[in-house]
Formats: sequence, C-alpha cells, structure tokens
Amino acid sequence: PEASSLKGVRVLLTAGPTREPLDPVRFLGNRSSGRMGYALAESLADLGARVVLVSGPTALTGPSVDELVRVETALEMHAAVMSRVVDCDLFVATAAVADYRPERAAEGKIKKSSEELTLRLVRNPDILSEVAASTPAPFTVGFAAETDRVADYALGKLRDKRLDMIAANLVGAERGGFERDENALSVYWSDGSRDLPMMNKTRLAAELAALIAERYRERHVA
Ligand code: PMT
Repeated sequence: PEASSLKGVRVLLTAGPTREPLDPVRFLGNRSSGRMGYALAESLADLGARVVLVSGPTALTGPSVDELVRVETALEMHAAVMSRVVDCDLFVATAAVADYRPERAAEGKIKKSSEELTLRLVRNPDILSEVAASTPAPFTVGFAAETDRVADYALGKLRDKRLDMIAANLVGAERGGFERDENALSVYWSDGSRDLPMMNKTRLAAELAALIAERYRERHVA
C-alpha cells in the first residue's frame, strides 16, 4: 500500500466555530468558517479513511464524509466527540472551540437597561486535551491559532496536551487562518516539523492529510 494510504482508518474530526448562547437570540462566537476543517475531512476521506465530522455552525455544504454530526456549543461538541472517541483511530481538532461560555444563558432576551452589562464566563472543557489523555488514546492532531510567537505556543501545546502532531497558523488581520480561502501552516511532531506555505485551503488540506498519514502509518503500520 502507498505510504499515504489511510484505508480503513477511522477518523474523528472537529471543524468550525462554536456558539455560546447569551440569551435566546444572542451568542458569543468566533470567525472560523469551517473551510480548513471541511477541506481536511475531504482530503482524509480521499486517502481512504472513514471520516466522522463533528461540525459547529457553518455556511458550507456538508463535505462527502461518512457521518456529519452538527453541534452548536462547545459542550455539545465535547459530548459528540467523547461519545465517539472509543471508535476512532485518529482524532483531528480543527474546530475553533470557545474556551469560555456565559455562566448561564438568560431565559428571555436580555433587555437594554443599565449603562454597563457584565458577563460572567466559565471555562469550557478542552476537548483536544481530554481526547489525548483518554486510554487508549487515538493518534491525536491539534491545531494552534496564534496571533504571535506561533512556534513557541505550538510546541508548548504539543508537549502539554501530549499530542502526536500540531498544525499551527498565524491568525489575525490580513493573514491566513480564519475566514479566508488561503492559509499557511507550520506542522510539528515530536522529532520533526514541516512548513506548508500560504496556499488555497483545499491544496493545503491535501498536503497536511498526506503528512498526517505518513506519521500515522509510521506509528501504526511499521
Ligand atoms: O474555519 P476556517 O475559517 O477555515 O479557519 C481555520 C482555523 C483558523 C479555525 C483553523 O486553521 C485553526 O487554527 N483551528 C484551531 C483554532 C483554535 O481554536 O485554536 P486554539 O489554539 O485556541 O486551540 C488549540 C487546539 O485545541 C485546537 O486544536 C482546538 O480545536 C482545540 N480545543 C480548544 C479549546 C477547547 N475547549 N477544546 C479544543 O478541543
């Protein structure tokens, strides 16, 4: 078989943003469009993997994967992932998950009354860390979205979260990452790294999928 084949490998992948409700009509969200994750899901499926995609709200049409699970909040994404993690060999966290959620969502629409409004936020579970710490853990690939010092933070996350690989992108105004059609990634694993330069997310996903397959097979097939 080809070095890049993922035939029969069960992949679980998160994509898109989460929405954390403030009241029935408002939420805290972020700028993830889901494009990077959907492209990666398709590229992994193209290599023969059986792909389950857990997606936050996006405007994209569902990619051709084996199962698409739609969620809205970080807690829903967490539940959808944790209930499926025993059945996966490879986990890829592309989603931009809210680190915090409003402590409670108001039952009715929050009214405009006082001059200031303070929101109290509580931590969401870290899905990626929990998956990497589960036993037996799947081969785990994280993303890192940083506005500065990409390599430092990415290598920190690789170590602290005990990941097998991490794909880091610089995000923010006029850069790749969120919302745009193009992105660039620096990919790190325990004893190597590769820079994938700025390109269309579809092509970038194909290159990243091949790199993931190589490392995965080195671990599991060799
Ligand atoms: O969707 P697009 O518009 O195409 O944009 C793509 C992207 C910029 C969203 C994507 O390339 C990307 O970088 N995704 C990760 C975004 C992110 O939330 O990074 P982070 O550094 O905050 O999180 C680190 C890792 O932990 C990520 O793999 C994330 O999925 C995971 N995480 C974070 C928090 C949490 N509660 N649970 C998690 O699993």
